[in-house]
Amino acid sequence: MPEAAIAFFLGIDVGTSGTRALLINESGRVAARGTHEHAAFASPRDGWAEQDPLDWWRACGAAVKKALQQAGAKADDVACVGFSGQMHGAVMLDESGNVIRPAIIWCDQRTEKQSKELEQKFGLSRIIQLTCNPPLTNFTLTKLLWVRENEPQNFARIHYVMLPKDYIRYRLTGDRAIDMADASGTLMLDVTNRRWSSEVLSGTKIPQEWLPALYESPDVCGKLSKEGAEATGLNVGTPVVAGAGDQAAGAVGMGIVRAGVVSATIGTSGVVFAATDRPALDPQGRIHTFCHAIPGRWHVMGVTQAAGLSLRWFRDQFGAGKDDGRDPYERLSDESAGVPAGAENLFWAPYLMGERTPHLDPNVRGALVGLSPSHTRAHIIRAIQEGVAYSLKDTFSIFEEMKVPVTKIRLGGGGARSNVWRQIQADVYAHEVELVEAEEGAAYGAAVLAGVGARHWNSVDEACDAIVRVAARVAPHAESSKLMQKNYAAYRRIYPALRSINTNNAS
Ligand code: XUL
Repeated sequence: MPEAAIAFFLGIDVGTSGTRALLINESGRVAARGTHEHAAFASPRDGWAEQDPLDWWRACGAAVKKALQQAGAKADDVACVGFSGQMHGAVMLDESGNVIRPAIIWCDQRTEKQSKELEQKFGLSRIIQLTCNPPLTNFTLTKLLWVRENEPQNFARIHYVMLPKDYIRYRLTGDRAIDMADASGTLMLDVTNRRWSSEVLSGTKIPQEWLPALYESPDVCGKLSKEGAEATGLNVGTPVVAGAGDQAAGAVGMGIVRAGVVSATIGTSGVVFAATDRPALDPQGRIHTFCHAIPGRWHVMGVTQAAGLSLRWFRDQFGAGKDDGRDPYERLSDESAGVPAGAENLFWAPYLMGERTPHLDPNVRGALVGLSPSHTRAHIIRAIQEGVAYSLKDTFSIFEEMKVPVTKIRLGGGGARSNVWRQIQADVYAHEVELVEAEEGAAYGAAVLAGVGARHWNSVDEACDAIVRVAARVAPHAESSKLMQKNYAAYRRIYPALRSINTNNAS
């Protein structure tokens, strides 16, 4: 008897540093991965961050082809495609679907003026009521208002606005679609009622026709076109689901779907993420309240702007030591392994691109504090790893104030892959941390959403219950953890000092 064909579900994650394609099988096991790097984002001015959407498009084709080849899979085996991607970025297209200018991406900090104007126009409490969030430089709407003010010739050409992964979807299918989770980060979504906010759109004169159609993350919302099939090697007509912004998709992949189990993920940014049954608000707006990738569920998350980016900055500027063929981050982590907890009083404040949680300050900048002649490269690496963990702890402190329950903490991203960074996080959070078996980031969640869209699983909950498995647990080390709590209190005193320096010097 011929064997039944095995179906694969494909997740495509349009990240900041690269695009990743991941194929999973019906048991949720990873069958193949393909990655293609993007050019580093351009920063034509301090605090600006731009990328070329065509670079993502090229990377998408290359990544999917690599994954198909690695799995030895035929296009027929791919049952459904899901997307995830860096959030908040503004991709602006003209009438014919051509990119008008480079995308202004999530970590860009140029829109302080537009954010303040939105606050004045609507009133802080009204805009929070409408969108669940305060206006922040990261959010897409502020970027559109900046283009209107500073590049009127570009603004006049806009016909369509979309987020990074939705541009890739557009190129693959020809459809303009977005999921609720990613749409939440635009400041144009009525997050409570899961629809575009007509009051925000009319108040800012942004036409709703510019925006994609809204779907829930596991909904099938299109099919691969001829152009999409040619670029990737997939079949014309392969169904695609809406997918989710990278944080919500990553959370699905780690089983962060119900209240209690919380994730701490260190990618380029760092995010502490909790699922909620209702839109839970921080009255000070220090964390985001967004729709989850699950119909009828929301989430809260705190964001560190430069988490993995801090270590990448160190690697790019000072190197990763002798090339022995291993991953540079593995080498950096090995280098810091010999430094005692507390990095002998060296501190890193990770504010390279301003900060979101808890400070909401686009002008603050990073700092190494407490350098002495005895400190080495290794101390600096350890201080960076600790500083990023302190910054993520700030979100746990806010969750505590808001009574968001934290029963388990699961680690994701680079902070989960490094032994040193895992232990640092357990010590800093003073809580056991868990590692999941398929630590594959947002692309994995995107593939799971594709599996739900293809009806292989009936719901995201059912998929997560079936496939997310805890592989290891790391307990805090009592003595180091005690020291880290003391050092966290000291770290908290760095920001007010930096603020007085950076705010006064902001142009
Ligand atoms: C989340 C955020 C980042 C980007 C980059 O709010 O801005 O995590 O999605 O990946």
